[in-house]
Amino acid sequence: MARYAHIVGWGMAVPQRVVTNHELAQFVDTSDEWIVTRTGIRERRVAGPQESTATLSIAAAEEALAVAGINPRDVDLILVATVTPEHLFPATACLVQDALGAPRAGAFDLLAGCSGFIYALHMAAAAIRAGTHDIALVIGAETLSRIVNWRDRNTCVLFGDGAGAVVLKGSETPGGVLASMIRADGSGGELLILPAGGSRMPISEAVVRDGCHFVRMNGREVFRFATRVMEKATREVVAQAGLRLEDVDLIIPHQANIRIIEAAAKGLGLPMDRFFVNIDRYGNTSSASIPIALCEAVQQGRLKSGDTAVMVAFGAGLTWAAAVVRWGMPLARPRPPWLERLGRITLYLPAQLHSRLMRLWRRFDAWLSRFLRQEGE
Ligand code: ACO
Repeated sequence: MARYAHIVGWGMAVPQRVVTNHELAQFVDTSDEWIVTRTGIRERRVAGPQESTATLSIAAAEEALAVAGINPRDVDLILVATVTPEHLFPATACLVQDALGAPRAGAFDLLAGCSGFIYALHMAAAAIRAGTHDIALVIGAETLSRIVNWRDRNTCVLFGDGAGAVVLKGSETPGGVLASMIRADGSGGELLILPAGGSRMPISEAVVRDGCHFVRMNGREVFRFATRVMEKATREVVAQAGLRLEDVDLIIPHQANIRIIEAAAKGLGLPMDRFFVNIDRYGNTSSASIPIALCEAVQQGRLKSGDTAVMVAFGAGLTWAAAVVRWGMPLARPRPPWLERLGRITLYLPAQLHSRLMRLWRRFDAWLSRFLRQEGE
C-alpha cells in the first residue's frame, strides 16, 4: 500500500522586537527608501536576550503539534533546519526533543542555507513514504541577528529572526508532499559564507578583529543565481508531480528579496498574486522563511483544503530546493487562549520535570559509581 506524507500541523514563532528600516538608518548608512525599493523589506524581528534558535523552534513546534492534535510522545523524527544552531553541538533538534518530551524521536539538525526547510521536508517525507518513520516534526529556525555585522549595510538590512514548523504524518490517503527536489552547487559556496567558527577557522581574537565571525555575501552574484534557480526548480518540481503551472494555486517562495520573487513570476509567466509575500514584515529569515510564510498563508485563507502549493527556495551552499504539496487540512479551529495555555502546561511541564530528573539522575549515578569504586579499592 502506497504511503503519503501529509502536513497535519503548522506553527510559527517570531521575536516580539520589531526593527524598522528607519531604526536601522539611525546607526548604519542606509535609508527606508533604499531598503524598500531594493529588497521589499520594511521591518524585521530581532531576538531578545532570552530568545534563541532553540526557544523559537520549541514555540513553533508546540503550536504545530497543537494544531495537529498530536502528542509529542508520538513524534518519531525531529529535524531542525538552521544555519544559526543553538551550539555547533549538541544539535538544536535534541534540545527541542528534550523540551517537548519526545522519547521516541531521533533528532538532528540539517544545514542547507535558506533551502534548509525544504531539504528537511524532502528527507522527512521520504522517511515517511519508506515507512521507517510515521510522525515527523520539521522545523526551520534562525537567529541571524546573532551572525550579522550590524555595521555592514550590505547584509544587516536583509535578515531577520524567527521559526516555523510543520508536523508531517504518514497516511494511505493520496496527497501531502506530492513531489520534491533538492540540489546543490558547492562551487558557489564562497558567495554566501560564515567564514569562522568551524574547523577551518576557529574563533580567535584575530578572527573577531577581522569580522570573520559575521556573514559575508556577494549580493549581486547570489541575486543572479537566485533568479535562475527559482524558475527552474519550480518548473522541474511541478513536472515531477505530473502537474502544469496552471494547476498551482499558490507559490510560497523563499522571502529573500521581492525583486527575486518578481523575476521568478515573470519567468514563469504567472501573476504576482499567485505568490505569497511577507518579506515586508520579516525580511529574510533563511530556513524559517518558508514555514513562516506557509503559516501566514493558511491563517490568511490563501491556502485551502484541496489547494496545490509549491514551495521553492535557494540559499547558501549554494543550494536550491522545491516541493509540491496538496493541502489536505481545513483551517484549524482556534481554541480559547486560556485553554491553549492550560493544554501546553499540562503537556510540557512533565517534559521539563523529566529533563531535570534525568540530569539529577545522571549526577547521582556518576557519584554512586565513584563511591562504589572507592569502596572496592
Ligand atoms: N543601503 C544603502 N545603500 C546600500 C545598501 C544599503 N543597505 N546596501 C548596499 N548599498 C549600496 C552598495 O554599496 C552599492 O553602492 P556602490 O554602487 O556605491 O558600490 C549600491 O547600493 C548598489 O549595490 P548592489 O549590490 O548593486 O545592490 P543590489 O540592487 O544588487 O541589491 C542586494 C543588493 C539587496 C543585497 C541584492 O543583491 C540581493 O538581494 N541579493 C541576494 C541576497 C540574498 O538573497 N541573500 C540571501 C541568500 S539566502 C541564505 O542562504 C541566507
